Amino acid sequence: MNVFEGKTAVISGGAEGIGLSIAKALAQEGMQLILADINEESLVKASTELKALGASVLTAKLDVAQPEQWQTVAEQAIDRFGSVHMLVNNAGVGGEGGPLEQQGIDGWRWAVDVNLMGVVYGGMAIVPLIKAHGEGGWIINVASMAGHLGLPLGGAYTATKFAVVGLSESWAAEFAETGIHVSVLCPGFVKTRIHESQRNRPQRYTSKNTQTNATESAELQIKRYVEGGMPADLVGKRVVEAIAAKELYIFTHSEGFREAVQKRFSTIDTAFASVSSSQYLSENP
Ligand SMILES: NC(=O)c1ccc[n+]([C@@H]2O[C@H](COP(=O)([O-])OP(=O)(O)OC[C@H]3O[C@@H](n4cnc5c(N)ncnc54)[C@H](O)[C@@H]3O)[C@@H](O)[C@H]2O)c1
Repeated sequence: MNVFEGKTAVISGGAEGIGLSIAKALAQEGMQLILADINEESLVKASTELKALGASVLTAKLDVAQPEQWQTVAEQAIDRFGSVHMLVNNAGVGGEGGPLEQQGIDGWRWAVDVNLMGVVYGGMAIVPLIKAHGEGGWIINVASMAGHLGLPLGGAYTATKFAVVGLSESWAAEFAETGIHVSVLCPGFVKTRIHESQRNRPQRYTSKNTQTNATESAELQIKRYVEGGMPADLVGKRVVEAIAAKELYIFTHSEGFREAVQKRFSTIDTAFASVSSSQYLSENP
């Protein structure tokens, strides 16, 4: 029996794309699933697909930016499966791209509420359930390579994904003694509908940016990269392989991004060297 078999995972944004691919890979390991997503139509399709693979699935309507809805999902999970061992904080949106002066405040709030606060609320609702049985478990937060490298014209997306990488490092240290292993998935481009995130933009974030053309052209650029990206189904398999090996950072791509991250580290290192040679600070480390 593998370590995942018979255990239960809650997956936010599990109805499509990377979330669904993780759900399929976990189902193949014998896990029971709660798919929680804002899009009910996609939930029905995903659940049918997973049940055809023999998986035990519960679907739940969830807007990750609403903490009380997370509490309802937690209750539904316990009612149906009795315990939870894994949280996959996957739901995310592209937000609004474009030059800073042309981005709308509502676009920023939407990205922060879903991509960052959605992860925080997920932890608050589900981690107590994982702690409750004392058997340990897993948290997988989905960030991005944009959590390691600043994406031009994508300030809100970059800021939220850097935050999720930092939050995951913090949780990894916080939960180290509890048997809950934390990972942060940082994909490069994957072929999903992330560039069509506006389809899931709730009414409360309606005020658009001042020049929708800016958003549209940034979205077109992202669309080109995403459509040429890795097939989503590979990501779920990669995640299972990496969490079995207890990796903290789960990467999906190496070429291109690796060199850029090394360059960033080297720039940071040079900044430390600059402090040690500062005529003002070198004697006061
Ligand atoms: N596709 C890529 O190239 C890529 C790269 C790096 C990181 N990511 C990250 O992967 C994660 C999944 O994105 P994807 O590429 O599969 O996109 P996707 O748009 O195909 O899927 C996102 C899923 O999240 C759901 N969702 C959106 N808003 C929600 C909300 N408020 N509450 C609950 N569910 C919500 C959607 O209905 C959908 O099922 C995101 O966090 C994204 O930032 C994607």
